[in-house]
Amino acid sequence: MSFPQRRLRRLRRTPALRRLVAETHVSVDDLIAPLFVREGIDEPVPIASLPGVVQHTRTSLREEVAALVDLGVPAVVLFGVPAAKDAEGSGAWDPDGIVQVALRDLRADVGDDIVLMADLCVDEYTDHGHCGVLDADGAVDNDATLELYERAAVAQAEAGADVVAPSGMMDGQVFAIRDALDEEGFDQTSVLAYAAKYASALYGPFRDAVDVSIADGGDRKGYQQDPRNVRESLEEIRLDLAEGADMVMVKPALAYLDVLARARAEVDVPLAGYHVSGEYAMVHAAAERGWLDGPAVMLEHLTAIKRAGADMILTYAAHDTAIALKES
Ligand code: PBG
Repeated sequence: MSFPQRRLRRLRRTPALRRLVAETHVSVDDLIAPLFVREGIDEPVPIASLPGVVQHTRTSLREEVAALVDLGVPAVVLFGVPAAKDAEGSGAWDPDGIVQVALRDLRADVGDDIVLMADLCVDEYTDHGHCGVLDADGAVDNDATLELYERAAVAQAEAGADVVAPSGMMDGQVFAIRDALDEEGFDQTSVLAYAAKYASALYGPFRDAVDVSIADGGDRKGYQQDPRNVRESLEEIRLDLAEGADMVMVKPALAYLDVLARARAEVDVPLAGYHVSGEYAMVHAAAERGWLDGPAVMLEHLTAIKRAGADMILTYAAHDTAIALKES
């Protein structure tokens, strides 16, 4: 009798068999749609480097969120593009700031049918483009910035955010925000911490989307993480959890799947991966040239992010993916 040969292909024979043994499933329940809302425009403005994504008017944002509710997408995260910027980024906490106004619109429209998240940072609102306030030497002042984040968190919670998502990578930001929210009676507002956020060149298209350029050719390497590090991410995640984060994020996702996998092994709280603007744009750019099957590659990206351990994915492909999953 000869040795029975292991035949792994047996279980790949039919679609039903493959479905039965699939280890990873991307579901509409995993998706968080990042949306941009711009102050002072009458028509949505397309973003050239993010095909299919627009800067919304207040009205078109409401329509898009209604469509996402119908598709079953469980969450959106809002980014604001203000009409005017200043040194501190006051639009981030002004009760009439664009994101606060949009949150109130959406809460009135959709009630609790979708989770409303707000990106919490000041870079979209500062005239110098940094994620905080600058000191006399032009460096981002960590602790002075925390005070601004506290105001923004309270303003977003007051306007109806279920979740605030601090993305500025200041030390102590989660503690400061949690404390400010609790003090103002918003103990039910959750914090999704952009815990392991890298200083990535993959954010390029996003900066077009929010009209941000960093003054004097600057960068964010003084506060965002060095792409060469992974253990440091685990330290960031542990600290954010100790400070009171309810959920943590790794960003970017696809180029940092090892970080996601390490984070998954380390923590049991909900873990998000941000499939960032550059990751999305590359797929579209190649697909436009006919070099790739865009929808297939997009789904492969999202599958990889889940397989690495993410529970949820922020992706500009949320709307299209929800449709594709419905049709499949
Ligand atoms: C900061 C913020 C950025 C992104 C999300 N929040 C930009 C940055 O740190 O420069 C990038 C998202 C993307 O590229 O899709 N408010």
